[in-house]
Amino acid sequence: MNDIAVLGNGRVGGNLAAALTRAGHRVTVADRTRGAAAEAARTARIVINATPGAGSLERLAALREELRGKILVDVSNATTDGPDGLPEDLLYPGSSLAERLQETLPETRVVKTLNTMLFPVMTAPATLAQPPTAFLSGEDPQAKQSVHDLLTDLGWSKEWITDLGGIRTARATEAAILFVPHVIRATGFTPFALSIAR
Ligand SMILES: NC(=O)c1ccc[n+]([C@@H]2O[C@H](COP(=O)([O-])OP(=O)(O)OC[C@H]3O[C@@H](n4cnc5c(N)ncnc54)[C@H](OP(=O)(O)O)[C@@H]3O)[C@@H](O)[C@H]2O)c1
Repeated sequence: MNDIAVLGNGRVGGNLAAALTRAGHRVTVADRTRGAAAEAARTARIVINATPGAGSLERLAALREELRGKILVDVSNATTDGPDGLPEDLLYPGSSLAERLQETLPETRVVKTLNTMLFPVMTAPATLAQPPTAFLSGEDPQAKQSVHDLLTDLGWSKEWITDLGGIRTARATEAAILFVPHVIRATGFTPFALSIAR
């Protein structure tokens, strides 16, 4: 059982919080109410960022003290959006939000994961016709192991989880967001995920 803070109570945050609670973790969800994120992060061992990616760097930098020594699981995508509200381009080309977070929060262990799928897949990976892939990017092996364990609690089989390496590898998974608006326009919002087929 872990004490987990989920920042953001939208589609991703709400879905993850419910599933992690069902799996037996003690979960606190922080909405945008002033002070809620700091309060939730202070008492957690693992903090999940499920807030809009465009403001995440600024928002999490303000929580530097609360995040010291913690694992920060970043599932967000930092994009500029097109006129239809769908992601259009990367906010940090040539880098990634995860790398910027790790630079800004050197005493926090950032792990990027789950950002390459629509939100229902995060907590029900076995419902897709083909196995999806959950990627892990981060500098700290123990932090990645803790996140790996959380993924298995959410129904991810070990064979579907791929550790890509250091935090710099997050720029590859974050770039996968460029597929998303085109896939949605082509086939709708039916749940899908990036998967490495072999
Ligand atoms: N949706 C997906 O399928 C999906 C998949 C992979 C990754 N992601 C990423 O996950 C993140 C969340 O996506 P989502 O679809 O869950 O978005 P969402 O439904 O719009 O939820 C975002 C949540 O963040 C909160 N929020 C917004 N601004 C905030 C602020 N300044 N401070 C604190 N909280 C704030 C929102 O609060 P209010 O309700 O008050 O606005 C809401 O609870 C994004 O970075 C997205 O790129 C989404």
